Amino acid sequence: MTEAINNNSIPEYEVLKQKYTPEEKILLKELRENLVDNAISSGETFQISEERLLNDIKNFLYSRLSLESDNISIDYLNNLSKKLLQNLIGYGQIDPLIHDDDLEEIMIIGVNKPVFVYHRQYGMMKTNILFKNEQELIELIDSIARQINRRIDQESPILDGRLLDGSRINATIPPVSADGPSLTIRKFKKDPLTIIDLIKSKTISVELAAFFWLCFDGLGVKSANAIISGGTSSGKTTTLNALTAFINPKERIITIEDTLELQIPHEHVIRMETRPSNTENRGELTMNDLVKNSLRQRPDRIIVGEVRANEAITLFTALNTGHSGFGTLHSNDARETITRLTNEPMSVPVIMISAIDFIIMQNRIYKADGVSFRRISEVAEVVGIEEGTVQLNKIFEWNPENDEIENVAVSSKTLTEISKLSGKSINELYEEISNRQIVLQHMLDYNIRSVGDVNNILEMYYENPRQVLNRIMGR
Ligand SMILES: Nc1ncnc2c1ncn2[C@@H]1O[C@H](COP(=O)(O)OP(=O)(O)O)[C@@H](O)[C@H]1O
Ligand SMILES: [Mg+2]
Repeated sequence: MTEAINNNSIPEYEVLKQKYTPEEKILLKELRENLVDNAISSGETFQISEERLLNDIKNFLYSRLSLESDNISIDYLNNLSKKLLQNLIGYGQIDPLIHDDDLEEIMIIGVNKPVFVYHRQYGMMKTNILFKNEQELIELIDSIARQINRRIDQESPILDGRLLDGSRINATIPPVSADGPSLTIRKFKKDPLTIIDLIKSKTISVELAAFFWLCFDGLGVKSANAIISGGTSSGKTTTLNALTAFINPKERIITIEDTLELQIPHEHVIRMETRPSNTENRGELTMNDLVKNSLRQRPDRIIVGEVRANEAITLFTALNTGHSGFGTLHSNDARETITRLTNEPMSVPVIMISAIDFIIMQNRIYKADGVSFRRISEVAEVVGIEEGTVQLNKIFEWNPENDEIENVAVSSKTLTEISKLSGKSINELYEEISNRQIVLQHMLDYNIRSVGDVNNILEMYYENPRQVLNRIMGR
């Protein structure tokens, strides 16, 4: 009874299944065998070219079917070729899920149980897809392993890796997963949320975005650092990714991550990813190794996907020696961010903390109906250290009553520094912020929101701000 109620409360995600006639099933089986033969005979050099395969399939169908005596049309043959291709090189049953950019996660929890998905809008959903036998599921996991040149077997029953499209996969087979094979795919969003999307959804205000734009670019004299803090899945990485749009296109950026998640539009980016140790327990590359190495790569900006352990000290050393940086960190408020940074296992000396300009708190807020929304709930500046305690100055704060992010600062240390170094008055800086606010508002009004489009306008602004403003204001 309880089970029935639980089942009812999870919305359903229906996939229209591809149906095959008995004849088509036979063709598919033959094609599959051909493909395997081909792969075996060409050994290591086997490479699938989609176009060539489609051609091979068409030729195969022509040889097996006859347009006249089987009474079929060219259209049918072409469509069937495409359908078969999808089946052969795709992900079989779950292929439609892989291609739905609205899904965050695909979860296969075993045989004869529905495949679950996490939908960006509707949350957890139950699909009408089900693996009826273990063999079918193992074949899928095997084919994924092959795609990324890895293997999964009794000896190493856990597979953790990244698909070519950037999605993260984790698969297990018995005996580690007692009830049969499991597969979890955390999908890579092909069209990431940009700063304009975040303004539209009120995660950030246009005023705060314009303020950050000025501070992160720093008018070429001081590009500000920031730690984006918050709970699990609060949107830290997404906000970080969106804010990187403001980095001056001239900067040399190095990103360091456990899992490649960041999608930075800039031309000059080196992406680094950590590596676990191999089966002989060797070859591990940690975050700290990569942050240390990045210092030899002469970066302007180091971006650490998620700061967790001793790489924090290395990062702060870099920040204290004139590099700028970004990172995310798991914590619930600005004060806790400092506490976590300065204690085990990060153990950053308090004196080094003043290298951070901003702590940006990212929050996921749940409404009564279970739907959630995300807000930057606070921005604090690190203003100094007094008697061993880090002094914070709150400059922006989200007001839950009117759902606005309010500017609560009397003054900003970062703006004061930029003013000093650039020779521009604070008023001039505010004028520049309001100009940038006009540019962002324009993109918002005209729904210019994709990574490429936003980046184009920002680059144009960096080249010739007057021209961009004049065009927007129709002068
Ligand atoms: N401001 C936002 N509005 C809507 N969806 C968001 C927002 N921020 C994040 N998400 C979605 O929430 C999920 C988790 O976000 P992520 O940035 O990876 O969180 P975190 O890094 O805090 O764990 C992603 O699927 C992302 O697309
Ligand atoms: Mg993250």
